[in-house]
Parts: sequence; C-alpha cells; structure tokens
Amino acid sequence: MKKILAFAGSNSSTSINHKLVEFVASQISEHQVRIISLINYSVPMYSEDEEKNNGFPGMIMGLKHDIADADALIISVNEHNGSWGAFFKNIVDWLSRFDRNFMEGKKILLMSTSPGKRGGLSSLEYAKSVFPRFGAEIVESFSFPSFYDNFSTTSGRVTEETLLLGLNEVLSTFAHQI
Ligand SMILES: Cc1cc2nc3c(=O)[nH]c(=O)nc-3n(C[C@H](O)[C@H](O)[C@H](O)COP(=O)(O)O)c2cc1C
Repeated sequence: MKKILAFAGSNSSTSINHKLVEFVASQISEHQVRIISLINYSVPMYSEDEEKNNGFPGMIMGLKHDIADADALIISVNEHNGSWGAFFKNIVDWLSRFDRNFMEGKKILLMSTSPGKRGGLSSLEYAKSVFPRFGAEIVESFSFPSFYDNFSTTSGRVTEETLLLGLNEVLSTFAHQI
C-alpha cells in the first residue's frame, strides 16, 4: 500500500477541482490517500525581498515535508485565463525556491476541471511541462470537461458514463504504476 497526497491547486472554498479530487480519492481502495486543502496554506506573495527578509513560510516547509513523505500525488489544477490561478503559482514558486527538486521521484496523477468544455486543459498542459522540472513523473492525466454538466455536487460523483469509464481507466493505470 502506497501513500498518496491529494490536493487541488485552488484557494476557493467551493473548489470544483477539490470536489474532483475527493471523488477520485474515494475510488482508490488499494492505497492510502490523504486529501489536503491548500486553502489553509496562506502564504505571502513570493518576492526575493520577502524571502531575504523573512525566509520561507512555515506552511511551505510543511507542505514540502508532506510531499516528500508521499509516494505519489494526485493534483487537480484550476484554470484562470489559460493557466494556473495566481494562488497555486505562488505556492509552487515558494516550493521551488525552497527545494528545486521538491517533487523528486513523485509519481503524479494530474487532473484539471473547469465549467468550460476544455476542462482547464491549458492549465493541465502547463503543469505537464513544469512539474517534471521539479523531478516529478506524470504517470497519468485527465482533463474533466464541463464540470457542472458531468458531476453532481449533491452526490459528489461523476454522472456522465463515458467520462466515468475514462476516469476509472486512468485511475486503474495510476494505481498499478505507483
Ligand atoms: C479570473 C478567472 C479566470 C478564469 N479563466 C478561465 C479560463 O481561462 N478557462 C476556464 O476554463 N475557466 C476559467 N475560469 C473559470 C474557472 O475555471 C472556475 O472559476 C473554476 O471554478 C475554478 O476552479 P476551482 O473552483 O477549483 O478554483 C476563470 C475564473 C476566474 C475567476
């Protein structure tokens, strides 16, 4: 049984990416999944002056430790104007300054979702290009389109059959490869 750390790259209390992460985590029984909410990771905007004057925020050191402690990660990124929201970019900037290889050896299931038809695909593609720089291996990825048409926020489940099949396939590959 491997340890998986799961989170959404969002600071919204109603994050749809967080809901997707919760659903996906509920489908994994063969590994231990811990879900965290980055909304609790309130850190200043990165600047070289901030780093010089005040050092690294404790939250960032804690998150780096939690990532290091996991065998694999499930991350769902949101999309703001074709890329990550500034909140998640800021967290990743801090982590990368603290340790350039903060994802060393981590196998990742990367996801994204948005209310739109592309499901945050641009943001997912950006993550695909950036995470390997920090040492990650993206094992599987899934962009979940038109969130509110295909997911019930009442039951917390994917409602569209074809998407559910695709997601389960991706999950099964991920669970076997970690
Ligand atoms: C400033 C801003 C820009 C956005 N840009 C995009 C975009 O480029 N593509 C997209 O699919 N959705 C976009 N959205 C809608 C988000 O996908 C939507 O707010 C979603 O709920 C964000 O994910 P989250 O709830 O997990 O934070 C944008 C939302 C905001 C507030």
